[in-house]
Amino acid sequence: MQVIVLVLVVFLCRNASAVYVINVDEIWKEFSANYNVSPRAIFSVEDFLNGYGYPFENHRITTEDGYILNIHRIPHGKDEQVKAENSTKPAVLLMHGLVLSSVSFFILPEISLALMLADAGYDVWLGNNRGNTWSRRHTTLDADLNATYWDFSFHEFGLYDVTAMIDHILETTGHNTLSYIGHAEGVTQFFVMASMKPEYNEKITVMLALAPPVFMQNLTNPLVQTLKNHYELFEFVFDSLNITELLPHSSDSTDFFNIVCSEDSGFQEICVIILSVCIGFDSDQIDRALLTDIFEDFPAGSSVKQWKHYLQEIKSGNTIMEKQKNLEVYNNSEPWDYDLAQVTVPTALYYGLNDWLVGLPDVERLKKALPSVILDHPIEYKLFNHLDFVFAKDVVSLLYYDLVNVLNDHNNLDPLTTKSTTSKTTSKSTDVTASPGSSDGTDLTTSVSVTTEGAATALCSSIQLLYVIVAFTIVKFVA
Ligand SMILES: *[C@@H]1O[C@H](CO)[C@@H](O)[C@H](O)[C@H]1NC(C)=O
Ligand SMILES: *[C@@H]1O[C@H](CO)[C@@H](O)[C@H](O)[C@H]1NC(C)=O
Ligand SMILES: *[C@@H]1O[C@H](CO)[C@@H](O)[C@H](O)[C@H]1NC(C)=O
Ligand SMILES: *[C@@H]1O[C@H](CO)[C@@H](O)[C@H](O)[C@H]1NC(C)=O
Ligand SMILES: *[C@@H]1O[C@H](CO)[C@@H](O)[C@H](O)[C@H]1NC(C)=O
Repeated sequence: MQVIVLVLVVFLCRNASAVYVINVDEIWKEFSANYNVSPRAIFSVEDFLNGYGYPFENHRITTEDGYILNIHRIPHGKDEQVKAENSTKPAVLLMHGLVLSSVSFFILPEISLALMLADAGYDVWLGNNRGNTWSRRHTTLDADLNATYWDFSFHEFGLYDVTAMIDHILETTGHNTLSYIGHAEGVTQFFVMASMKPEYNEKITVMLALAPPVFMQNLTNPLVQTLKNHYELFEFVFDSLNITELLPHSSDSTDFFNIVCSEDSGFQEICVIILSVCIGFDSDQIDRALLTDIFEDFPAGSSVKQWKHYLQEIKSGNTIMEKQKNLEVYNNSEPWDYDLAQVTVPTALYYGLNDWLVGLPDVERLKKALPSVILDHPIEYKLFNHLDFVFAKDVVSLLYYDLVNVLNDHNNLDPLTTKSTTSKTTSKSTDVTASPGSSDGTDLTTSVSVTTEGAATALCSSIQLLYVIVAFTIVKFVA
């Protein structure tokens, strides 16, 4: 019975997705013709940062297994006259989380960790893992044509991507060490690197781990619990649909989100709920006026294998190597754990008490497994969740101020003065009053009825995962 239902679901999903792709294109074409919305050019990091008075450099690097990555650099603070080449500023590398990119660290400039660090005297580098919006190229493979391009998880991020970034940064700056700040998956991959290539421990001054998903047995997200319990089904559905990439960035979906999640769409709270249901509810910390900005970057793409690897770890309760790679590359059918005892870098752990993807017992376990934890810092604000680390309205006062001081301490810089943070937290976005909705108020009702459809399609087109959830639900009910 279960098998029949499953085959049916897979069949329907395939057809639904085929029909659906056409719909998205047509609806969008009609929509943009009727409402005179020009196609969005890909977000320009350079224009964006220069517009706020910050310098920007793009660095292209190639990993030893052929992936071409674009990493971003903000070599100094706002309107500062410093030659990047011979900078003596300490370097810091910021590594983004799953389906995010470098942009997540500065897309909300008023509360940006990257910009705050640049102003605090750092040479700021922002990594982009293979497969995300900025790093989709390879020396021989095509991300859109060759499924083998997507044969990676955070194991490869740790072994190849971060190591290549660190080598490049140290070579460019002439420094011997740098500091590392990881958010979510940016933390996971760091520990893969530091355990598999222990020689890199010496190159890191200090590691600040934000929302560390390492042991994940006790995470509280109900959706993930369901996926975990039906892992084989998850694998089967994705494998039989030949889906290798999940949640890629598309300018169409950004445009839809821009309309649907804007303050005057009438659907904004739906956006809030969809975001929250994955990461934990903390409505107060979402600045509704800036919600659409987040979708300039999010989602930024991932491989299905990243999700598989995480689910395997959640299922096993340990930090195991990905099953298929373990067999194919290491010729090993037995699972083995990453050896956290190798991680000698001084590590500070920051975590939210309402983070649905990082459980408190798991952080406790991580703390015991790491040889040199220098700081155990739960965020005091009780509702702090997984994405609040980059997007919370008050993240500067709740976290960044302390965090930059810890970093300064390890880089021999003076502590921040209180004054500079207050001015940052209290400044508000100036774009709010200039909301474009009011000028064409007459179109509002019609445009809303169009965007109802738009909302549905945009959500689904970027959330292929929805199919899987539906499949799980059906199978669960029928079986
Ligand atoms: C940077 O330093 C190198 C050697 O220390 C020197 O040759 C070069 O001219 C310097 N560049 C700048 C822009 O000062
Ligand atoms: C990538 O896909 C293209 C088009 O299907 C094919 O011609 C090419 O041989 C593939 N490359 C590799 C390395 O598999
Ligand atoms: C964490 O999860 C494991 C496995 O599901 C369970 O046995 C254990 O009791 C949980 N620990 C806590 C503190 O909830
Ligand atoms: C998936 O891809 C394989 C080869 O890569 C192909 O043989 C198979 O027919 C594809 N399956 C579907 C359902 O498209
Ligand atoms: C893989 O491991 C098995 C059992 O340990 C061994 O018999 C086999 O030769 C190995 N294969 C390769 C390609 O190393």
